[in-house]
Amino acid sequence: NNQQSTLLDEDAFLLIAHRGASTIAPEHTLASYQLAMDMDADYIEIDLQMTKDGVLVAFHDETVDRTTDGSGKVAEMSLADIKKLDAGSWFNAENPDRAKEEYVGIQVPTLEEIFIAFGDSANYYIETKQPAQSEGMEEKLLELLDQFELLGASQPEGKVIIESFSADSLTTLHQMDEDIPLIQLIDNMNQAIPAAETFELYVEYAVGIGVSSKKVDEAYITVAREAGLLVHPFVVDKLAEGEKMKSCGATGIFTNDVDAVSSLK
Ligand code: G3P
Ligand code: CA
Repeated sequence: NNQQSTLLDEDAFLLIAHRGASTIAPEHTLASYQLAMDMDADYIEIDLQMTKDGVLVAFHDETVDRTTDGSGKVAEMSLADIKKLDAGSWFNAENPDRAKEEYVGIQVPTLEEIFIAFGDSANYYIETKQPAQSEGMEEKLLELLDQFELLGASQPEGKVIIESFSADSLTTLHQMDEDIPLIQLIDNMNQAIPAAETFELYVEYAVGIGVSSKKVDEAYITVAREAGLLVHPFVVDKLAEGEKMKSCGATGIFTNDVDAVSSLK
């Protein structure tokens, strides 16, 4: 198990519970996060979006249609509307072998509720989603992190990691608090290895990158590591693929199935 103080060491191999333990519980619910903690994941991964009335909630898709009984865009719904939704029955319907009565009617959590539930006991890997359309998302995120005393010297390094596909969102965060470890997510459709100067640019504000496990090979990971970046491929659910990523030099993986890959730690 990684000791808290070495979370960001490059020889630590981190298991990041992607949307929580999302193989066995509805993604982005207190249940999926609790199960990830029970499985000794190094981090719970939270996708952040903002409601119409400016509240940060844990939600992946732009619309609520796939993972609730509702319909419409998160950004166009009030928190009150979102709190009326059933965010678990879809999982039971899609996974009858893993269906649980307790998932029926489970709600979409706010980031505040997640911090109230887990506080210091969890490590948080938080993605700012649609940040350009979410006025003040970074400020609200830092306010909550400060309110729950999850930043600063009182916490082990790496207690909170913030990730985004948006370099603007990350550089905004870096200007507000340069001590927060940031991960630049890359959606590199063409699999080409970014130029060294691209990685050097990331190094100015980020400690690492997140990139699709389907689009990285040893050469890609080696260049990123030589630039001084941690590499966290997403999303790896099979042990053999995790072993391959680790042997290629990855320093952790996003996984929906922590149990399946736990021997990598
Ligand atoms: O945040 C890492 C990975 O989750 C990015 O892809 O679409 O699952 O948020 P997505
Ligand atoms: Ca994510």
